[in-house]
Amino acid sequence: MAKLAHAQWSSKMGFVLAAAGSAVGLGNIWRFSYLTGESGGAAFVLVYLACVALVGLPILIAEWMIGRRGQKNPINTMAELAKRHGRSSGWAAVGVSGVLAAFLILSFYSVIGGWSLNYTLGSITGAFSGQDAEASEAAFGALLGNPGSLLIWHTLFMVLVVGIVARGVTKGLEAAARVLMPALVVLLLVLVGYGAMSGSFGEAFAFMFRPDWSALNGSVMLAAMGQAFFTLSLGMGIMMAYGSYLGEDVNLLGTARTVIILDTAIALLAGLAIFPIVFATELDASSGPGLIFITLPIAFGNIFGGSLLGLGFFLLLTFAALTSAISLLEPVVETLEERTALGRLGATVTSAVAVWLVGVAALLSLNVWSDVLLFGLNIFDLLDTFTGKILLPLTGLGAILFYSYCLNQEEARRELGLGTSAFGVWSVLTKFVAPIGVVAVFVAGFL
Ligand code: PHE
Repeated sequence: MAKLAHAQWSSKMGFVLAAAGSAVGLGNIWRFSYLTGESGGAAFVLVYLACVALVGLPILIAEWMIGRRGQKNPINTMAELAKRHGRSSGWAAVGVSGVLAAFLILSFYSVIGGWSLNYTLGSITGAFSGQDAEASEAAFGALLGNPGSLLIWHTLFMVLVVGIVARGVTKGLEAAARVLMPALVVLLLVLVGYGAMSGSFGEAFAFMFRPDWSALNGSVMLAAMGQAFFTLSLGMGIMMAYGSYLGEDVNLLGTARTVIILDTAIALLAGLAIFPIVFATELDASSGPGLIFITLPIAFGNIFGGSLLGLGFFLLLTFAALTSAISLLEPVVETLEERTALGRLGATVTSAVAVWLVGVAALLSLNVWSDVLLFGLNIFDLLDTFTGKILLPLTGLGAILFYSYCLNQEEARRELGLGTSAFGVWSVLTKFVAPIGVVAVFVAGFL
């Protein structure tokens, strides 16, 4: 393999932590729970789990391998590998749509990161104490209705992201993630415990795991698949960009398993924490993106030591959001840096300002521009839907097809350390199950 063109992860552990840091974020807690609520529960959850295993795992590995071979930003990596293997330069489109997706996702992700910051402050000032469902809904509505406040928090979040990326302290974050991710799991367990004792845990459990298949349709399936991509940071060039920093000694399958199990466990725990409260307080499970910001403060307002727990929770959520946001900025910055003369800092600031601007449009669409609709969606929903349901699946499809049909499979087998029969199973997954699954769900979603 070619000599490495740029830096590598300090250690294997560093890579696992960075990949998990990218994967675990608002997607697991905020997006997973609101989509589950909106899509009728278990049928969505089960399709999501199937997509994680059958589509997410192969694509994760495919992106890492492509990145590791290409050693560049996603666009140049795809272009160069296509050339090396005598394929069309059109494959670079996979890189382009990945970078575009990362850019668009970060713009609204930062708005939600801002909500999380705002709620961190709310826990400190005791805003949740004694709060019931109605008060909590009203408080969240007031935040959404206040463009000035949303703007401040969105800006603050982006400033934090840029500050970290520009100062190159992401290595420090890897170390912090080692402590903070387990802490997030523990806090979620406490919340699940709260739900089990004072909420409607049985109802919530059934909602999440006992499917009512009549709730399943193409659009729910597409949402579930999109969520699998989103939560694993797939289809955006992110894992490709990370793979380009990856040394040759890292065990891809083992790492993927660790990342996927952690990511999925956090999402399921978040659901088990949130839905008991939803059902106990008769909130509307399908109320949309505000779900965790409405339900969790009720727990924090009524539980012993709640303001401290709330503070811990929203701090950890913000931290998880930051590590994901940094990874979203990375492919955009890497691309600008390697394709223009801006330099690292210039590329970072330019991308961040552009992301920030789109984010401002997204947050205004929650209030003053709420009647600006395209395809019946406001700007915020449009960004979320277009990326999750279209860009991510298509980019991911491109990555898995390129991996399966353009890269040398014998090399891939050795790289994964698989015997011939295990690799046979793997090949069925990567050549047929994953790509056909993506296409089928994609088509069903638009029928
Ligand atoms: N996977 C992250 C999450 O679940 C979000 C993310 C998406 C991060 C895409 C990077 C790329 O929150």
